[in-house]
Amino acid sequence: MSLAARERTAAAGLVALAVAGVLSACGGAPSPADPSTVEAGARVFSQQGCGTCHTLGAAGSRGVIGPSLDARRPPVDRVVSQVQEGGGAMPAYAGRLSDEEIDAVAAYVAEVAGR
Ligand code: HEC
Repeated sequence: MSLAARERTAAAGLVALAVAGVLSACGGAPSPADPSTVEAGARVFSQQGCGTCHTLGAAGSRGVIGPSLDARRPPVDRVVSQVQEGGGAMPAYAGRLSDEEIDAVAAYVAEVAGR
């Protein structure tokens, strides 16, 4: 094998490693569309009274103190940070809910909002 060919092979190997790294990094988090996660999130949403303040048709809630989640359709990471930290008139849930519960309610909201 010529030197140039060997360099190309090494470069291709590095690209493959980088791709594998990205894929495995994503594989760690639960998929937002995982039905059991979404189901658990629906329970968190109703138990925590998110619907008292937020409109979310899928949950049958009509709260108007906070923004309509159906209108906002926030992505998962937006819901996670808002639920953890609160803000505005919304309480922070970081000490009250586990990371799993926060991830689940975020997956649920991102999945069903606006539907
Ligand atoms: C006491 C009322 C109240 C409760 C309970 C409440 N929220 Fe909120 N929420 C708000 C308010 C008010 C805002 C707007 C905050 C701001 O503008 O800074 C907000 C903002 C948000 C946002 C950001 C929307 C966006 O697009 O910026 C999300 C997502 C959210 N709430 C989800 C939830 C979830 C999930 C729960 C239950 C775990 C919950 N909220 C419970 C009042 C509430």
